[in-house]
Amino acid sequence: MLSLSAYPIQNIELKNRIVMPPMCMYSAINGFVQPFHLTHYGSRAIGGVGMVIVEATAVSPEGRITDQDLGIWDNQFIEGLQSLVQEIHRYGAKAFIQLAHAGRKSMSSATPHIAPSAITFSEEYEQPVAMDIDDLIRFKQCFVNAANRALKAGFDGIEIHGAHGYLLHEFLSPLSNHRDDNYGGSLDNRARLLRELITDVRSTIGKQAVLQVRISATDYDPEGITPQDIIEILTPVKEHLDFVHVSSGGNALRRIDLKPLYQVPFSKTIKEGLGLPTIAVGLIHTMEEAEAILANNEADLVAFGRELLRNPYIVIQAYAKEKDLDHLPEPYLRAFK
Ligand SMILES: Cc1cc2nc3c(=O)[nH]c(=O)nc-3n(C[C@H](O)[C@H](O)[C@H](O)COP(=O)(O)O)c2cc1C
Repeated sequence: MLSLSAYPIQNIELKNRIVMPPMCMYSAINGFVQPFHLTHYGSRAIGGVGMVIVEATAVSPEGRITDQDLGIWDNQFIEGLQSLVQEIHRYGAKAFIQLAHAGRKSMSSATPHIAPSAITFSEEYEQPVAMDIDDLIRFKQCFVNAANRALKAGFDGIEIHGAHGYLLHEFLSPLSNHRDDNYGGSLDNRARLLRELITDVRSTIGKQAVLQVRISATDYDPEGITPQDIIEILTPVKEHLDFVHVSSGGNALRRIDLKPLYQVPFSKTIKEGLGLPTIAVGLIHTMEEAEAILANNEADLVAFGRELLRNPYIVIQAYAKEKDLDHLPEPYLRAFK
């Protein structure tokens, strides 16, 4: 099966094409990894997933969605994250981490909550403070420092969270970015922060780790961003990226027509338009669906989110079905023979 075949990238090899996408568990204490995280991510690794992406991990305290998010804004977080990487590696998965800043969608007790413009997301959220140039410089420095710490913790790859209405997406979208400086207005200006960050992170990590960005392909709003915009935004920094993780929405209160595989067409458009490998995600539930997406060249890797929360063993069940017993955890063999 294509979905169970290896995928070499940079200096690593994913043992298959199935990804655990980042999912906030809101179970950290003061940003620190807890025993829960070791069991939670370790279970998906033992379940056979090729790439485990650790949930949105905040690059600064006010960049957390809640006070229960994981943190990476200080060196004291490295040790816990290192244990998490070891746990993921123990079972043959590659360990990735999503680095994030929640921007105007932060509900953390740390303040100020910052954003490109002082525009509130919804009644549930506070009005953010518009970032000045010093804030932008500080934000980029936090991100680069976080990338360095991720390397020290031993992560194989870094995912920059540029989706779901959080800080970087807020800059990209004209719905949330009303700035009149170099970081607002035209698409090129709105793309500036993300492009600078991708360039800075790549120059920091070199070829030591895989680099990917998660984007929302559309705001589902006539005034918002489109898949074509994403292609334009990422083209100048394409050489720095290994994957684009294609999600959608999160920056506007719009009804989304949710149905199985609903984001896969965006993955295909971006893969073809940008010429970079993509990860497809969103209401994908079976290995057969994953196989079809890969066979149709709609993506290079496929992520199961909530499905992996329900069933951590979906991938080893597929190995067993293929009679590929070498990929099963040895202590579990008696359950599958
Ligand atoms: C509990 C939960 C937490 C999530 N946290 C994150 C996150 O930290 N970062 C992110 O980019 N997406 C997050 N997402 C979105 C998922 O990564 C994924 O894109 C989404 O669930 C759709 O995939 P699925 O239908 O396979 O679950 C989260 C989703 C869930 C269900």
